Amino acid sequence: MPPESPDPRQHVSRRSFLKGAGGVAAAGGALGAAKAFAAAPTTERLSGTVEIELLVNGEPRKVKVEPRTTLLNALRNHCEPPVTGPKLVCDRGSCGACTVLLEGQPVYSCMQLAVDCTGRAVTTVEGLAVDGKLSTVQEAFVAHDALMCGFCTPGFVVSISACLQKNPKATREELQQACSGNFCRCGTYPRVFEAALDAGRKLQGGR
Ligand code: FES
Ligand code: FES
Repeated sequence: MPPESPDPRQHVSRRSFLKGAGGVAAAGGALGAAKAFAAAPTTERLSGTVEIELLVNGEPRKVKVEPRTTLLNALRNHCEPPVTGPKLVCDRGSCGACTVLLEGQPVYSCMQLAVDCTGRAVTTVEGLAVDGKLSTVQEAFVAHDALMCGFCTPGFVVSISACLQKNPKATREELQQACSGNFCRCGTYPRVFEAALDAGRKLQGGR
């Protein structure tokens, strides 16, 4: 079994981070923090390995996980075949590369425990395409060449898709707010938001 989120670059363990996470959320108050702590914690005491069923992109997926396993880890390392659209970058709720929809709401999958997601609809960037056809937002990212290394891209596509699903007329500022928990180290923000606005126009019926 792969290790739980190794990060040799950092000297902060997941355990110590989670202990301090409440303080970070209170201090930050950003949308990203809201994403990170969207799930209700389980009250059941769990230990060892448990088998749970996740509903990923409309398909039930049985996985064996430890109670500490994150949704991101479960998707990438415990599902067979793996679900690799959500990316592991910071693994501590600060970059947004792992963003998925949980019951339609964007969340950081690295900050959700997989056991808390049992039976709840998880949509990853893969699930936005329908019958192999890219979604409007995905097509716009391609048309506007809105990525460089692409590591942040699944997170942006998911956050923008959620925003436009609620409001296809979202302004640039509203789209930027929706992506306030997503960071692009390559700096492709201008193209990302051109793509997002274009997708919004197409979703409103314009071509
Ligand atoms: S990998 Fe989850 S927020 Fe960065
Ligand atoms: S395209 Fe490289 S981090 Fe965004």
